[in-house]
Amino acid sequence: MVEPIIELQGVSFSTQHEEIIRDLSYQFLEGTTTALAGPSGGGKSTVLKLAAGLLIPSAGTVRFRGQDMAAMNRGQTMEFRRQSAVVFQDSALWANQNLYQNLELPLRLHFPQLSKGDREKRMRQVLSEVGYTKDLLIRPAQLSMGEQKLIAFARAMLCQPRVLFLDEWTESLDGNAAQRLIDRVKRHKEQGTTVIFVSHDLRIIKTLADAIIMILGGRISLTRTAAEIAADEHLAQHIEKGIAS
Ligand SMILES: Nc1ncnc2c1ncn2[C@@H]1O[C@H](COP(=O)(O)OP(=O)(O)O)[C@@H](O)[C@H]1O
Ligand SMILES: [Mg+2]
Repeated sequence: MVEPIIELQGVSFSTQHEEIIRDLSYQFLEGTTTALAGPSGGGKSTVLKLAAGLLIPSAGTVRFRGQDMAAMNRGQTMEFRRQSAVVFQDSALWANQNLYQNLELPLRLHFPQLSKGDREKRMRQVLSEVGYTKDLLIRPAQLSMGEQKLIAFARAMLCQPRVLFLDEWTESLDGNAAQRLIDRVKRHKEQGTTVIFVSHDLRIIKTLADAIIMILGGRISLTRTAAEIAADEHLAQHIEKGIAS
């Protein structure tokens, strides 16, 4: 039986003014790929950050392999961070560091035993996979949004994560660049990585996702398995409607 790797149980998330996520429960199964879809402002990014342990729920629990993430000690949190990687919707590169430093930092933190040469070898490998060929000694502000996405994606790949969180990760990319990233995620999937991604693109969802959840008004409005996605002629419409509403 496939075990849940990340489990949200009765999770709510509130700011001072409003409840953004409302009593949401879902189990992300180990080794599977789940797409989060739905309209802008529905709560997709917030759910992704809660699942990635980056936001602490106001109510309810987020568990990683059965363990409450809010109760993890420093060592356990570091181990979860080493095993997971996030590509943020806005890329979230460190603006005051050059690209080389942006890529090197997670490797230095999580794999201190690697030599400089080994770090650079891994960096070259992922950069060639994502198709980034330009200078590394420039800062993120000198890149287009699409190039920032490539570097953010490369940074997420470097530590060979077992859980991958991707937020609108092919936005601002041309078709070839997007396809390279999709192929890379497909390879990860084949190697048993758990992937949770946000996308509005039904083609990507159909290619990669084992399950889809639609998030609307901070709640799950619909869930479908891969087989149901393939068979559901109305799903495209539903996704489009969801996005339009
Ligand atoms: N830190 C925050 N403070 C206040 N409001 C927030 C915060 N984060 C998200 N929101 C609000 O919560 C809602 C859901 O946001 P988000 O999760 O980014 O949606 P999505 O990714 O589906 O577009 C939006 O209305 C957004 O403005
Ligand atoms: Mg978002």
